[in-house]
Amino acid sequence: MNHDVLLEVEDLRTHFFTRTGVVKAVDGVSFTLDRGETLGIVGESGSGKSMTALSLMRLVPEPGGRIVSGRIMFDGEDLLLKDSSEMSVIRGREICMILQDPMTSLNPVLSIGNQLMETYRSDERHSSRDLWERGVDLLRKVRIPAPEIRMRAFPHQMSGGMRQRVVGAIAISRMPSLIIADEPTTSLDATIQLQYLRLLKDIQKETGAAIIFITHDFGIVARMCDRVAVMYAGRIVENADVSELFYNPQHPYTEALLGSVPDLEQDVEWLTSIAGQPPNLDDMPPGCSFEPRCPYAFGRCVEEYPREFLVAQRHRASCWRLDDTG
Ligand SMILES: Nc1ncnc2c1ncn2[C@@H]1O[C@H](COP(=O)(O)OP(=O)(O)OP(=O)(O)O)[C@@H](O)[C@H]1O
Ligand code: SF4
Ligand SMILES: [Mg+2]
Repeated sequence: MNHDVLLEVEDLRTHFFTRTGVVKAVDGVSFTLDRGETLGIVGESGSGKSMTALSLMRLVPEPGGRIVSGRIMFDGEDLLLKDSSEMSVIRGREICMILQDPMTSLNPVLSIGNQLMETYRSDERHSSRDLWERGVDLLRKVRIPAPEIRMRAFPHQMSGGMRQRVVGAIAISRMPSLIIADEPTTSLDATIQLQYLRLLKDIQKETGAAIIFITHDFGIVARMCDRVAVMYAGRIVENADVSELFYNPQHPYTEALLGSVPDLEQDVEWLTSIAGQPPNLDDMPPGCSFEPRCPYAFGRCVEEYPREFLVAQRHRASCWRLDDTG
């Protein structure tokens, strides 16, 4: 099958240089994403999911944080070679981050209508009637009731869920090819979360954008994603199509994560139930970073970090158990 690749991340490393040492928040992450595809990134708190996303946007917190190496090929161009003004154009149009706290993405002193019409106003010459119609149409696409009235409202006059949909409408107007959604760690109200997921799907339907969906919840991955990457201590340890990963997990960490999910439809705090702690990112062992918690660990695991093995088509995992040569 031919895949139309949108994003190709190669050996990405993002480190924090602190007084006590170098924190390797992202340490050799590689993956690809096709156009229109949805990739879930899962992993324990602190495993580097958000830093991976912020690295793609070139928004790693400074000072201290720095992308030290790698390539981020987006639509055929390396984002790590772009200057900051080129990057802000890409962030405004091509790559949209949709946060769950929508207040920070909206301007409190501009009406919803003005914020929606902004994109078109700067682009082309449109009559104000035409701009207005487009704004109303965008609100309709994200299922906002009485859109004509909402156009005149200000962000503080709307509910949180409604504001989130406005952010979604603005995202649609920009026709991004990549959307990054980073779920907060705190559990959300279930209704708000469902609305958020539905909004992302609506945006994807309208724009054909690919989505990177960062979450703690395998149930959501099953519902939302085509593929899934499992992160552990700054690296992707397994990457596969969703059903392949669920039914044929190969990495002991994935197995442990899935083993602690009794029912995929049920939202549970699954990540806390694996015994032991992830390693310190400023003092990583030379071998497999999961070794201290792994029930299958053997001699080689302590000495050398496992390379990536191809398990099946589009299914990769980094574990020495998969090495049938030695
Ligand atoms: N400003 C910073 N200085 C030093 N280290 C940092 C800084 N910000 C993040 N880190 C380190 O980077 C690692 C990865 O953080 P990241 O926010 O990507 O985790 P995450 O997987 O998104 O976790 P969560 O699920 O809790 O959101 C963390 O373990 C943290 O120690
Ligand atoms: S490489 Fe070894 S320690 Fe690491 S996950 Fe595989 S078996 Fe476990
Ligand atoms: Mg995070």
